[in-house]
Amino acid sequence: MSEFRVRSIRTLDAEFPVPGDKSMSHRAAMIAGLADGVSTVRNFLPSEDCLNTLGAMQACGVKVEVLEEMPGFGPTSMRIHGRKMQLAAPTAPLDCGNSGTGMRLLAGLFAGQSFDCELFGDESLSGRPMGRITDPLELMGAKIDCLGAKPGCAPLKIHGTKLQPIRYELPVASAQVKSAVLLAGMFCEGVTTAVQPADTRDHTERMLESFGVKIRIEGQAISIEGGQIPQARDFRVPGDISSAAFWVVAAAALPGSRLVIKNVGLNPTRTAVLDVIERMGAKITRTVLSSDDGEPIGDIEILGGPLKGTGLLKAEIPNLIDEIPVIAIAAALAEGKTVIRNAKELRVKETDRITTVVDNLRAMGGQVEEFEDGMEITGGSPLHAASVESHGDHRIAMAFAIAGLFAEGETVVRNTACVNTSYPGFAKQLAAVLAGSKVAADYDLPAVPVQP
Ligand code: S3P
Repeated sequence: MSEFRVRSIRTLDAEFPVPGDKSMSHRAAMIAGLADGVSTVRNFLPSEDCLNTLGAMQACGVKVEVLEEMPGFGPTSMRIHGRKMQLAAPTAPLDCGNSGTGMRLLAGLFAGQSFDCELFGDESLSGRPMGRITDPLELMGAKIDCLGAKPGCAPLKIHGTKLQPIRYELPVASAQVKSAVLLAGMFCEGVTTAVQPADTRDHTERMLESFGVKIRIEGQAISIEGGQIPQARDFRVPGDISSAAFWVVAAAALPGSRLVIKNVGLNPTRTAVLDVIERMGAKITRTVLSSDDGEPIGDIEILGGPLKGTGLLKAEIPNLIDEIPVIAIAAALAEGKTVIRNAKELRVKETDRITTVVDNLRAMGGQVEEFEDGMEITGGSPLHAASVESHGDHRIAMAFAIAGLFAEGETVVRNTACVNTSYPGFAKQLAAVLAGSKVAADYDLPAVPVQP
């Protein structure tokens, strides 16, 4: 079985990129696939999750010409031939792998088609709640059977039908639910509105707008008029701030370190992790270099220092939900208490991330109290090496690799192949960090041209 073996490092002084943003890569595959014309998508994330979404679009007749790829992983730049909102019926069930985003957004997209299709995923995805999207989609008239052994879970059999627009108040602050409703709304006559209880990542809105689709935003109500056709364009996916977060924590917690991460997405609905790590005492400079594709993109520089505990604000939770495992590592390395509450959503991610973080931190000597909706971490006592399990969860595997960089002895993180669902190249960059490399090429994630 795959594993990381990690020992402590003394400093981190490097400059490197992280691969393309996962949330945006899913959306780029879908929206370019629906568009009128040929879009060029660059810096696409060639992770298993996003490749499954791309594969689903290809199964619906979307033609993809690969221009560049990350060897061993998959395409990073491609031309996507949009189908002008006319998808073809797939001939077999569509595999969403480990991806909640892939399955929930595709369900929105497929609910209003004139064909039936089936979406399935791996064991983890087959245990995650789908009622949160089937509820609003059924209010729109969709017919979806949850075929899983667990009620309300995948596989999803979607019987495509004509949908009615709705105004839907989301019971959870979820960009996936908001996006599923908006994507379904594209295939309705009339205006569909999703009202979110708090800010969530707004990539769907921004990307649709950059593809020429009009979106109305009034407070927390986001509306789309059906029947609009996205217009093909070129889109460059920024680096993934959620992937950068692992290295942000590694550098922040090591006094004397300096790390620059280039061309990363700095959308304010995603950067609360930087606010938190700054509050804990690190110095972080963010420089926005462009917003050409509707998404701010720039460089971040992190200077490490002694960290202190903090509390996460309720309003920050949806913004940094994916970064909480690695924020918990920062908390264990900080002096004092860090309180994470209002984060019950963590229990329905790729694993129950409250339990997996608490168990693994305790195994490494961390002091943690578990709550139903979070945890309290008392930092400052040294971490020691342990053998910890990812339980097949990419963010748990990577967060505990970072913990191992601060622990006495050799930490083994077991079952790490899952990192390929979001971060191809993580193992290479981890090896360069462990070797103390200052050679840029050791951190590079090459994209090489593909001959037609
Ligand atoms: C995502 C939204 C978040 C996040 C997930 C990606 C997206 O999930 O945790 O990793 O791309 O829309 P929820 O919307 O379910 O909170």
